Amino acid sequence: MRIGIIGSGIIGQLLGSKLVSLGHDVILGTRDPNDLHSKKGAPGDPAPSLAEWLQEGGKMAQVATFSEAAAHGEILINATSGMVSLQALALAGSENLAGKILMDTSNALDFSRGGSPVCLATDQEGGSVGVRIQQAFPDTKVVKALNTTGSQIIVNPLLLADGDHTVLLCGNDPGAKEIVSELLRSFGWRDIFDLGDITAAHGMEMMTALWLRSWQQNGYRPCNWKLVR
Ligand SMILES: NC(=O)c1ccc[n+]([C@@H]2O[C@H](COP(=O)([O-])OP(=O)(O)OC[C@H]3O[C@@H](n4cnc5c(N)ncnc54)[C@H](OP(=O)(O)O)[C@@H]3O)[C@@H](O)[C@H]2O)c1
Repeated sequence: MRIGIIGSGIIGQLLGSKLVSLGHDVILGTRDPNDLHSKKGAPGDPAPSLAEWLQEGGKMAQVATFSEAAAHGEILINATSGMVSLQALALAGSENLAGKILMDTSNALDFSRGGSPVCLATDQEGGSVGVRIQQAFPDTKVVKALNTTGSQIIVNPLLLADGDHTVLLCGNDPGAKEIVSELLRSFGWRDIFDLGDITAAHGMEMMTALWLRSWQQNGYRPCNWKLVR
């Protein structure tokens, strides 16, 4: 499948590498594809440069602009900070997003206050990033997924508890959620829990601040939620 990833940080790179390894045709989007040598990603969680990524996990992928990645993908992934996702997706171009599935992995977390990050989603008009993306791009089928757990296991859930833990998703389009679920199953996820329409993104994004605190208290070792029912 052709997949366009909007975002070149650690999450875009991990998803890109995994999808390439599974045989997908991936373009990773960045604002300046000519700059392959800068370190990418958030402070404290720097990803390799795109030159390093292309040499390692990203072999067989291409790096291009956000709009070229979006035009390429049959399925799109938003892997940008929720603080800038709307700007990044505007650069990707609404015409390149229309009618497509967009898996949204983002969180809008403010680390500037020290201690636990504050989830800014609920401060914004419209609430979560997932909901604001759906409002801004009504012709796109937004599926929120993979934002509630850490980079160590999103593409390799079998690393933890033999895969016996939960990934949450939500979105308005049942068919889009099924296709995203298929992708997640191909990563090794077995317990995929559908929270319903895109408004569940409010809660999914708030969960992340608590997940981060749990991860810190767990010595930065992999951890995740299990929805016992
Ligand atoms: N770290 C985790 O464990 C984890 C787990 C699950 C979900 N997430 C979520 O995944 C998302 C991606 O995280 P990340 O750490 O990989 O990347 P990130 O640092 O949050 O975002 C990197 C991307 O944002 C783009 N960007 C930065 N400023 C921009 C602006 N002003 N306008 C447009 N684009 C801009 C960058 O563009 P360039 O390519 O041009 O640099 C880059 O592609 C985040 O929302 C995060 O909360 C993280």
